[in-house]
This record gives sequence, structure tokens and C-alpha cells, in this order.
Amino acid sequence: MTGRPSYYVTTPIYYVNDKPHIGHAYTTLAADVLARFKRLDGYDVMFLTGTDEHGQKIERSAEKAGLDPQTFCDQVSTKFKDLTAAMNFSNDQFIRTTEERHKKSVQHLWSVLEEKGFIYEDRYSGWYSVRDEAFYAESELVEGEGGEKFAPTGAPVEWVEEPSYFFKLSAFEDKLLELYENNPDFVMPKSRLNEVKSFVKGGLEDLSVSRTTFTWGVPVPGADGHIMYVWIDALANYLTALGYPDEQGADYQKFWPADVHIVGKDILRFHAVYWPAFLMAAELPLPKRVFAHGWWTNEGQKISKSLGNVIDPYELIESYGIDATRFFLLREVPFGNDGDFSRRAFVLRCNADLSNGLGNLSQRTLSMIHKNCDAKIPPYGELTNDDNELLSNIEKSLEQVREHMERQAFHLALEAIWSQASAADSYISVQEPWKLKKTDPERMNTVLYVLADAIRQIAILAQPVIPDSAAKLLAQMGIEDRGFDQIGQANHMLPGTPIPKPEGVFPRFDLPEEDNE
Ligand code: MSP
Repeated sequence: MTGRPSYYVTTPIYYVNDKPHIGHAYTTLAADVLARFKRLDGYDVMFLTGTDEHGQKIERSAEKAGLDPQTFCDQVSTKFKDLTAAMNFSNDQFIRTTEERHKKSVQHLWSVLEEKGFIYEDRYSGWYSVRDEAFYAESELVEGEGGEKFAPTGAPVEWVEEPSYFFKLSAFEDKLLELYENNPDFVMPKSRLNEVKSFVKGGLEDLSVSRTTFTWGVPVPGADGHIMYVWIDALANYLTALGYPDEQGADYQKFWPADVHIVGKDILRFHAVYWPAFLMAAELPLPKRVFAHGWWTNEGQKISKSLGNVIDPYELIESYGIDATRFFLLREVPFGNDGDFSRRAFVLRCNADLSNGLGNLSQRTLSMIHKNCDAKIPPYGELTNDDNELLSNIEKSLEQVREHMERQAFHLALEAIWSQASAADSYISVQEPWKLKKTDPERMNTVLYVLADAIRQIAILAQPVIPDSAAKLLAQMGIEDRGFDQIGQANHMLPGTPIPKPEGVFPRFDLPEEDNE
């Protein structure tokens, strides 16, 4: 074990009923950026993602595909795993709930809940939505045109009546409210915390945690015919990945409790109500935060398979590259809000900030250095107030970026980094290094040196979001030390470092033709 601080970030594990789409890529992207940021900031990071493979929804999807559930899961899980590589995600683990280690872990958790008296046997009769894998109270349902009943999410529900084990969720009402009261950042953003609070204040019923009418899942220990409710199975993945039930193991010791579970707003209740209640019942430490992000629509419409408007992350990567896709998703919409995806907004944003912004700044600077400074980082003279101001503001921006990242405010972190690139642009316009070439070549060297050092630091800060492009930029400047400890004037670049003829890092995109939209 090292003495470095630790950071554990997770994504939801994805249902393998269908191939991955932009919503899945978005959730994992956010976790990836946090993981990369923390690694560069000196933390030991565990970044977990994976697939949720049990339950009726998956059993039925496998049936529909004409495959046995395990073969079906193997096939679809691979697609999610492939996406992690395609999007350049740096996850340390990819967990699957059909793994043996997980079965052991969740069965152990169940036994602990049972031993501590929080599980009892009874009969469930009520509404269930297979699509949401959720139980709904009669009062929550909405009626369709033909009188059929739907979940508040719009998913169909069916009547279920069967023997079932229950978890005493009702015993945790006060403890949960106390948790939210004492840890106002346990659920973020704040508006979501209020939603969770009022749900709990409305009263909690005990939760049915086993099913007996299908078989695809983890068997309840010692209770023939009972399969664990898929959400208790799924949530336990966050412990399994750390070696649970071995609470003395190195990963568990180092990384539990999780620093943040990133989830979509649709699955907040499971993470902010059920999950802490299970953990309290098992007397395990609680995660520090659950952050619920919003949903993407596509050109104003809800994304759905039946509308045929699902955004395929592979198609975006193919058209615009990985980094532009990553940048757009996190820069355009405050994390936590819903966002609308449009190609026009994508192209405008990436052209403005990437090719015209950072791209143009670095291309201009490195070309001038290549051409006028013998293709080497120039030596520098005494720094003026303007030089010092530019560099010290960049140094200070690290602290701002840290604060934003600490609150998962990716768009603000990016804004803070990019405002440094704009400051460097203004600095060029004021200093006019192209004029200095004739009038004061030594000052030109200093100006270009300062600019190169500014770009070095901006690229270091931008790495978590645009890892490949930042790496290309840093490589063009011969920079090998890329951690955040390199931010600041104490870590100057080395004059004399060769600068190859620079190549543009950020392509410019054409606006989509309106009639193709
Ligand atoms: N299997 C459960 C999670 C179990 S975690 C212990 C699950 N899986 S899911 O595949 O349906 O969804 C996973 C994530 O994708 C959710 O966080 C959800 O919010 C996200 N998204 C699905 N569609 C989305 C959009 N259109 N936009 C943004 N994210 C969306 O739920």
C-alpha cells in the first residue's frame, strides 16, 4: 500500500438487454474524468464500471434473442466492455454480476442482513415493472388511454403475487433522513436531494427482495426457489469489486466507502434510499456521495428505440473523434441538468473551443517557435508583469478546477481551463510577438517561452477530458512530466527542447446541412 490518498468512483452497472448508447457512455465518461483527474492529482484511484446481468428483464431479452441467458449476457457485456476502450475510459475494473466472486459477495451480504434481523418471509402482491425492475405502489401508477396501468416512468407494469422475502426498509426512515440532514452533499445536485428527502418523508414500505417466478439470478441462500431481487444483487457490485466479504483485504481497506457513485437521475432512489439502508442494516460504512446526472434528448426528442433516434456513441466517435465527443458531452451541459444533443451545437462548440480555441493558440505558438527560434523552446529573459500575470493565473486556476471537480461541475472546470486559453490569446494580441522579431528578438523569445509554458499547463489540466489530444500537444513540446504537481512556475519548461513542425491536434468540423437533420 502507498501512503497516497485514495479515491473510489463507480458507474452504474449497465443492463445487458441492449447495446450501449450515448446515455451509458455519458455516465461512464463522467466517472472516467474524475478518475483521471484524481490520478493526475496524486491519488490512488479505483474506477469501477461493468454490467448488470440478472433479473427478469435480461431473462426475457435472452429468450427473445433465442439464446440461453449466459450466452446472451456474454455477448452483450462484451459490447459494453468494447465501448470502454472505444471511448478511452480508464476503468480499473469491469465487473459482471454473473461472476462467481459477485455471487459469493451478494449472498454474504444477504446472510448478514438476515442475521441482523432485517429480512423476513411473507407474500408480495402488487405491481412490478420489468423494464424498470421496480415495484410500484398503486397510487404511483398512471392510467393509459385504454385503462391499462403504467409506471410513472411510462413503463408497463404487471401484477405480481408470490412468496417473497422482505427487507425492513421501513425501519430506516429516520436514519435516512438524519443521513441527508447531516450530510447535505450525500445526494447531489441539491434539487435531487430534496426529491429524495420528500420521497422518504412520504413513508417507506418494506421492500420485496426476492422473487420466485423466474430463475435467472442469484439464489437466496438456504431458501429454495427464491432469486434475489436484481437491485440488491446489482448494488452489491460496488462491494464485490473491492473483495467483499473480505473486509480486511487491501482494496476494501483502501477504497471503501466509495467517494462517489455516479448515476442517472432515473436510478437515484435505488442508490440514495435502498443502498444506504442496506449498508446501515449490514453495519457497513456509507458511500460519501451519490451524484445524479440528467438525461440527454436528441434534437429535442426523448431518446428511444421506438423513435429510432438512439445516439450511437460509435457513430459520434467515427464522425468527430473521441476527444471532441468527450469534450462536448461535459462542456455543453451542466452535469446534473438534462441536455439536448444537436449536431449543430456539437460542431459549434467543438470548433469554437477546440480547433479555434486551444488548437489555434497552440498551433500559432508552436509554429512561431519552430520558425523563429531554431525549432527549439527559446531561452527567456526577465519576466514582465504581463508574463507573470498570465502564468500565475494559470497556476491559480488549478485550485478552481479542483473545487469544481470536487463537486462534479465539469462544465465549470472546463470553463476555468478554457478561460486561461483565452487569456493566452489576449496576451498574444497585446504582445505581438511577430512584430518583436525585428524590433526585440530577445523579448520575442521570452513571449514565446511564456506562451509555450502556458500551453503546457493548459494541456496538463485538460488531460482528464481530452486525454489523446492533450497527450499529442504535450508530446509536441517534449513534456514528459504531466501530473498536476507540474503546474506552477517552479516547473519551467526547458529552453533548448526541440520542437518538431507542429501538427494540428483539433480538426474543424462542418456544420450539418439543415435538411439532413
Ligand atoms: N442496471 C441498472 C443500474 C444498476 S447500478 C447498481 C441500470 N442500467 S441501465 O443500463 O438502464 O442504465 C444505466 C445508466 O444509463 C443510468 O445511469 C441512466 O441514467 C443512463 N442513461 C440511460 N439513458 C440515458 C439518457 N438518454 N441520457 C443520459 N443518461 C441515460 O439502470
